[in-house]
Amino acid sequence: MTAKVSIIGAGMTGSTTAHWLAERELADIVLVDIVEGMPQGKALDLMEAMPVVGKDVTITGSNDFKATEGSDIIVITAGLPRKPGMSRDDLLKTNAEIVGKATTETLKYSPNAIYIILTNPLDTMAFLAMKIGKLPPNRVIGQAGILDSARMRTFVGMELGVSVENINCFVLGGHGDTMVPLTRHSNVAGVPLKDTMPAEKLNAIVERTRNGGGEIVSLLKSGSAYYAPSAAVAQMVEAILKDKQLIVPAAVFMQGEYGLKDIFFGAPVQLGRNGIEKIIEYDLNDEEKAALLRSAAAVQETTEALVKLVAI
Ligand code: NAI
Ligand code: 2OP
Repeated sequence: MTAKVSIIGAGMTGSTTAHWLAERELADIVLVDIVEGMPQGKALDLMEAMPVVGKDVTITGSNDFKATEGSDIIVITAGLPRKPGMSRDDLLKTNAEIVGKATTETLKYSPNAIYIILTNPLDTMAFLAMKIGKLPPNRVIGQAGILDSARMRTFVGMELGVSVENINCFVLGGHGDTMVPLTRHSNVAGVPLKDTMPAEKLNAIVERTRNGGGEIVSLLKSGSAYYAPSAAVAQMVEAILKDKQLIVPAAVFMQGEYGLKDIFFGAPVQLGRNGIEKIIEYDLNDEEKAALLRSAAAVQETTEALVKLVAI
């Protein structure tokens, strides 16, 4: 196995990402966390599953960033959830310190790695990783759009009773309440989504997609989603390592695309061995453009808050 993927943060999303990746036999995997013994324990447990599933993959756990040396891809999931009494700015500052350190420490050992960021607030943390690591924009990708689109595909599949493989949905914009499910660019086996169900059903799916993360949080009571987010990361890793040129929605640094600049924002991108190979611009109508601008304003606000809190 020549490729190496390191995952910083071996909590729910980090360890589940390792699980999906190991099943795909794509790369050797390193899990790093600050909790002593935990990444080592999870890595060993996963290694012991490999004879059962028949995959020859080495999975290592560590509390030391040196273990990530020579990684092709670094996935950052490390961070804290918001705790009682903690403001959004407090969380922003804490996670910025964690993501900032994870970026600079891993870069020392893997100067050419491609970064996939999962830690929230997603668009802002991806911005931070790019700035603090002085990385070219093609090497930093935020995971949001595959997950948000997969949620929409799931709900469409539940409604229509057809295979999720027949359902294509694109959710763009920031990873938050203002995300933009693009119904006009979504289809079921080539049939425009709007022609497959009554408008009120489609509107309900759009609304449920926007609240998809919150729906899982309120069911779980503690913690947030991890199976679907980590499956999304695994798909991105595979697209990069196999140079698939796969088009998916993801958070990328905007440099004029969609009329936006200097923020990370969800757009369709082509993923290959260089990370972001291309940002694809859809032809949007006025309503879609307005929705994207509203979402961009929300991301801009958090990005500005970050810049005030952290020297980057
Ligand atoms: P978790 O709490 O299960 O795991 C986070 C891990 O980070 C913990 O094991 C913790 O010990 C570790 N950690 C904290 N500081 C660290 C440091 N300095 N170095 C290394 N490890 C450190 O949380 P979970 O569920 O894995 O979520 C992680 C992050 O991902 C959260 O910010 C969450 O909001 C976000 N998330 C984002 C999604 C997306 O689609 N962008 C989807 C799901 C979660
Ligand atoms: C989600 O959408 C928490 O961002 C995470 O599930």
